[in-house]
Amino acid sequence: MKRKTLEDIQVAGKRVLVRVDFNVPLNDQQQITDDTRIAAALPTLKYLLEQGAALVLMSHLGRPEGKIAPSMSLKPVAERLAQFLDRPVQLAPDCVGPEVEHLALQLRPGQVLILENLRFHPEEEANEEQFSRQLAALGEVYVNDAFGTAHRAHASTEGVVHHLAVAASGRLMEREVQYLKDALQQPRRPLVAILGGVKVSGKIELIENLLNKVDTLLIGGGMAFTFFKGTGLEIGASILEAKRVETARQTLVQAEARGVELLLPVDCVVADRFAADAQTQVVAREKIPADWQGMDIGPQTRQLFADRVSAAGTVIWNGPLGVCEMAPFAVGTREVAQALVRATGERGTLSIIGGGDTAGAIAQLGLSGQMTHVSTGGGASLECLSGLVLPGVAVLEREGG
Ligand code: 3PG
Repeated sequence: MKRKTLEDIQVAGKRVLVRVDFNVPLNDQQQITDDTRIAAALPTLKYLLEQGAALVLMSHLGRPEGKIAPSMSLKPVAERLAQFLDRPVQLAPDCVGPEVEHLALQLRPGQVLILENLRFHPEEEANEEQFSRQLAALGEVYVNDAFGTAHRAHASTEGVVHHLAVAASGRLMEREVQYLKDALQQPRRPLVAILGGVKVSGKIELIENLLNKVDTLLIGGGMAFTFFKGTGLEIGASILEAKRVETARQTLVQAEARGVELLLPVDCVVADRFAADAQTQVVAREKIPADWQGMDIGPQTRQLFADRVSAAGTVIWNGPLGVCEMAPFAVGTREVAQALVRATGERGTLSIIGGGDTAGAIAQLGLSGQMTHVSTGGGASLECLSGLVLPGVAVLEREGG
């Protein structure tokens, strides 16, 4: 069954229970340091309010492991959301129970109630049925806009859907699925994937899935050194996942067999220690000195990767190409990202940025607004791009009502 979207449901005068992913980073004073995820839910929330709905919002924050942790209260989130929506947002003292039910029942159109952290109850992650029923009792219609949590089969993302007559996906959810799943089914070609980050493990299913779909695979970041090992190169003191060398080697073989162009860096920026002020040099990949470690892709590789990106119809990017948190080693990621921004603006290339570290690196470069789509989901975007079923999305297809 096709998922229902906001256009398919009637919400005027109804209490709409909305699962959002407001799992935002907080500093030691419980201040929000990045409110992207709150902002990303606004199109859905504003639409529902304009239609005359009352909103009961629910989210987790952090990993309190089923216990009440005041440092993980949704209070700062409620305050920030009230600013964004320019109306009061009431924080419930809990997410289930008679008092919360009473507050939900009192809501009038245009009012917003946000439940306290779902994960203060172990039943949320256990996807416990009675807890799901209690959540369901708070609304008449369910909307899931929490793409970032769609890879979790929890009570608020999966269980609750079985106990409400109508369920739909929100605008953010639709957009994320459109770019991270549908864009891979019928891509504008050439389809180029950029893979980076430290580890090969955790990305094996992603690599498998991409090898079946892409025309070109560009590999940089720490994981490139495990691939270098797989080709027999010496990598000095660069990061290595010894257990994944064979996986890397097989990936190279499979790419060749499937006619996928797989490009590893041809040169690297290496450093004498892992520090922003380390001594550095640019070396060909065959010439990494013993005791030096790879920190970024080199200038020839930047050009090579930028050329592929510039000619692409679609680019999917997961993982930074160097140690981006240290400015001297963010150059490769920056130059390739700039080429991608140009291709997006000038040629209409679809630029799709995976969540988590990749989105963080692009945001740090100030380029997020110039990409076609930057995912709000870390684990969820990885699983989606890996071709895995996201339980929070699948249940909307089965039980949309
Ligand atoms: C995320 O930040 O990736 C989501 O909010 C899911 O959080 P979790 O990994 O704690 O389930």
